[in-house]
Amino acid sequence: MPIKPLRKAVLPVAGLGTRFLPATKAMPKEMLPVVDKPLIQYAVDEARAAGIEQFCMVTGRGKTALIDHFDIAFELEATLAERGKQSALATLRSEAMEPGSITTVRQQVPLGLGHAIWCARAFIGDDPFAILLPDDLVLSETPCLKQLADAYNQTGGNVVAVTEVPHDQTNRYGILDIGEIVGNLVQVLGLVEKPDPKDAPSDLSIIGRYVLLPEVVAHLARMDRGAGNEVQLTDAMARMIGHTPFHGLKFEGRRFDCGDKVGFLEAQIAFALARPDLGPAVREFLKAYTNA
Ligand code: UTP
Repeated sequence: MPIKPLRKAVLPVAGLGTRFLPATKAMPKEMLPVVDKPLIQYAVDEARAAGIEQFCMVTGRGKTALIDHFDIAFELEATLAERGKQSALATLRSEAMEPGSITTVRQQVPLGLGHAIWCARAFIGDDPFAILLPDDLVLSETPCLKQLADAYNQTGGNVVAVTEVPHDQTNRYGILDIGEIVGNLVQVLGLVEKPDPKDAPSDLSIIGRYVLLPEVVAHLARMDRGAGNEVQLTDAMARMIGHTPFHGLKFEGRRFDCGDKVGFLEAQIAFALARPDLGPAVREFLKAYTNA
């Protein structure tokens, strides 16, 4: 059977962001900027670079800023043009979305990531789709989702981005039980959400980038509660193993968990250092701090 092209992405953004209170009291976590771009924009840019054309944001109350961010800010553009701020104007225009390419659905109660994805079932339909969790940022040569899309085109099945985590932290992540390893592709034999280090089948963790077949929706529809009494995406994915190809991709690049304060601060530094316009100045002031 020919492999269906990957054109859709789901962005779950309905979480409460409690770890960033009070910053997230009136503003969605995904609007927090890393250097000068909100997390959501990094996710959308990465998806577009992987050939994604249709986006579905799973939102909740208080998330309107995320949708507004992708609108054309007519008055702002007119003012910038009037004041001759061509570079700021060009930045805004380069980020403009194709009309009709973003749809939203509501997750009225945050019952877990699996439940959030299930809320996008009408958007997913019978097509393969990507999931990007905007609070995971990846700094890489090739955008992380593009690497996953290439692996999907090669295997025709489910592919999740994976990275090694410290053994004593397996209880924070979805962990792989691994089979054969060919190059960067790891055959997935099983998946466990947040296992205790003593029960963890490996130290390979899933990060917030997935390419999944639409069959996962039927498994999510069972609404089984897993770790933390939430509807876990990991559990629904685990049920596909053995029925459809399932691989982990050891992607090239560095992942930053921006849902965590230390990870978020590290991302600020790493992304600023990687920028030609900011890197030298940041490197300079860091020296002063690290020598203190
Ligand atoms: P997190 O586990 O980081 O939860 O969700 P959170 O609520 O965003 O943040 P904390 O832990 O309270 O600080 C991972 C991703 O899944 C989405 C979140 O928006 C985030 O992108 N999510 C989570 C949902 O969309 N719905 C849910 O019910 C849970």
